[in-house]
Amino acid sequence: MRILGIESSCDETAAAVLDSEKGLLSSVVWTQAAEHRPFGGVVPEIAARAHLEKIDIIIKDALAKADTKFSDLSAVAAACGPGLIGGVIIGAMTGKAIASVLDIPFIAVNHLEGHALAAKLETSVPFPYLLLLTSGGHCQLLEVLGIGRYKLLGKTIDDAAGEAFDKVAKMLDLGYPGGGALVEKAALSGDSRHFNFPRPLAKEKNMDFSFSGLKTAVLHAIKSLPAPLTAQDKSDICASFQAAVIDVMSIKVARAIDRFSADFSDSDKSKTLVVAGGVAANKSLRQALQELAEQRGFSFVAPSLKLCTDNGAMIALAGLERLKLGLTDSLAFRPRPRWPLYE
Ligand code: KG4
Ligand code: ZN
Repeated sequence: MRILGIESSCDETAAAVLDSEKGLLSSVVWTQAAEHRPFGGVVPEIAARAHLEKIDIIIKDALAKADTKFSDLSAVAAACGPGLIGGVIIGAMTGKAIASVLDIPFIAVNHLEGHALAAKLETSVPFPYLLLLTSGGHCQLLEVLGIGRYKLLGKTIDDAAGEAFDKVAKMLDLGYPGGGALVEKAALSGDSRHFNFPRPLAKEKNMDFSFSGLKTAVLHAIKSLPAPLTAQDKSDICASFQAAVIDVMSIKVARAIDRFSADFSDSDKSKTLVVAGGVAANKSLRQALQELAEQRGFSFVAPSLKLCTDNGAMIALAGLERLKLGLTDSLAFRPRPRWPLYE
């Protein structure tokens, strides 16, 4: 089986070809950074237009790199939500058109399921596993029981972690795009104890997150310093902010590890913690979670950096896994701006 995966739910236009025997044959990601830079953030209408202009070129490129013709495809998968609806519609309609012309199955993939399964492109991770899904729009702890089977343990009650990284980058004028990566880079030369930022909800006995108060604390710290901020000020803020995020994530993941261990106490299978989504590209976070997992006897798996942020390969994989189970979708499937994994 050979499948084309299409991703267009935010500001990356991406396509990939995945073969059930030979693995990933190509993955092309085009980022719209230049289009959004003048506005300092993703503008949905501009994103949709840019997807429309590029999507056929990206698909053609992905097919050529995979040495694959349209007629070689067994199915087409497109991320059909959640995300910015203009972009989602473009990816979904393109996928449907290809599937319709070739008369092959169409699979409407939940973008979050793509992130949740991405690690499987590189490592064999058996179900069930514990997942921290942390991206620009989501921050959730889930038990991944199987394809389409997720149990929510906790989620953010306000901002996603990636959103907080992006806002801190904006407040500090670090540049655009790649707020999270820029904060991580600045943090390298900062003192993580310089500012004692709050650890929101750390003491609550649940697995929920909150990042909006942390963002406000960063704003207060910026205002308390003489303007303009020095490079060292910025680095100290980034390091202290990142440490606060990693601390709360570690606390919540530790709690989730306990829950997962209790839920699967009668299983003799080895237990695994997977981290996924754009924020999972953060090396300090990966290191902290790896240490935590190992202390608790869990294996730790994180996708390579290019599979953490949005890409077509994870959509192709989710599509292929669904195809194997016969879970295909009608061409009447309506793209969904909101689409929780765990309904
Ligand atoms: O998964 P993704 O590419 O798109 C969404 O589905 O949201 O995640 C993008 C998010 C952005 O908020 C970005 O700032 C964050 O992931 N991110 C990072 C890093 N690289 C990307 N956050 C922290 N550290 C990083 N190295
Ligand atoms: Zn994403």
